[in-house]
Amino acid sequence: MATIISGLDYSQIQRDSIKARVTKLRQKHSVIPGLAVILVGEDPASQVYVRNKAKQTLEVGMKSVEHLLPKDTDEATLVALIEDLNQDQSIHGILVQLPLPDHIDEALIINSIQVKKDVDGFHLTNIGLLSTGSKKAIIPCTPLGCMMMLKDQMGSLSGKKAVVVGRSNIVGKPMAALLVKESCTVTITHSRTKNLEQECRQADILVAAVGRPEMIKGDWIKPGATVIDVGINRIDKEGGGTKLVGDVEFASASKVAAAITPVPGGVGPMTIACLLENTYQQACRINGIAEF
Ligand SMILES: NC(=O)c1ccc[n+]([C@@H]2O[C@H](COP(=O)([O-])OP(=O)(O)OC[C@H]3O[C@@H](n4cnc5c(N)ncnc54)[C@H](OP(=O)(O)O)[C@@H]3O)[C@@H](O)[C@H]2O)c1
Repeated sequence: MATIISGLDYSQIQRDSIKARVTKLRQKHSVIPGLAVILVGEDPASQVYVRNKAKQTLEVGMKSVEHLLPKDTDEATLVALIEDLNQDQSIHGILVQLPLPDHIDEALIINSIQVKKDVDGFHLTNIGLLSTGSKKAIIPCTPLGCMMMLKDQMGSLSGKKAVVVGRSNIVGKPMAALLVKESCTVTITHSRTKNLEQECRQADILVAAVGRPEMIKGDWIKPGATVIDVGINRIDKEGGGTKLVGDVEFASASKVAAAITPVPGGVGPMTIACLLENTYQQACRINGIAEF
């Protein structure tokens, strides 16, 4: 049976470490990292995410600001709010919860966040910095969490064959860029990929970010591979109710892989921990303080 890579455990360690560093930052430099989260609309799942982010931000000793706006908020109002937060010296990270309502241009909003405060790492400049391997890049939270767990599990990733299933801007593409940076040989696959199963079978590292419940089966996985399952899918449970599953069929995959992240309790908890890490990091950088 595969080793279970527990994102719950990793994220707890990560948050404890951030909390200790935030305390030091406050004591030595009188700086309190501040995170502002903006939610437009009343989507229940997004409301839960935003509430969780605020709770965990406060728990590590940071300042948390929430802006909950009605779903008919116009673009100009949103840009004006972001501009205020860009100027606010107590705020070091700004996150706009996605997706935004259809009448708002998502790219315009993301790119109106000051590059240094773009703790989601979705601004074009941060994407460019990541693609060119710059240390200045703010790395998107979900891929950052995946990399932390992979490196901790495997040590050096150099020379490993990695396959990423999914090419979204928020997970698949930045994940592939990070794996290239670690000197992996990377294949990005998607809905038009031919022979997906065969591609997956080549992978020492398999990252699934598809959004299709249990699509990747155990016999798609190379024996001894490390599997990171980013997918979060809610499906009906036998006998009623619902449950969360990943993009990988855990029962069969865990018999073949050397190590695997579960769903829930894998990548998910690491995403918020990495958001806090990015906010801490930017609070240091904005104030010209060497990170410690
Ligand atoms: N754990 C976390 O914190 C976290 C964070 C973000 C996302 N997620 C989850 O991760 C999953 C992916 O999210 P996302 O935002 O990256 O999704 P997305 O934007 O919908 O992208 C899905 C990707 O999967 C590809 N795909 C779809 N069907 C496929 C198939 N049959 N075979 C191969 N590739 C296929 C798509 O290919 P095309 O490009 O060709 O359409 C696309 O590139 C979702 O379940 C989401 O809920 C989790």
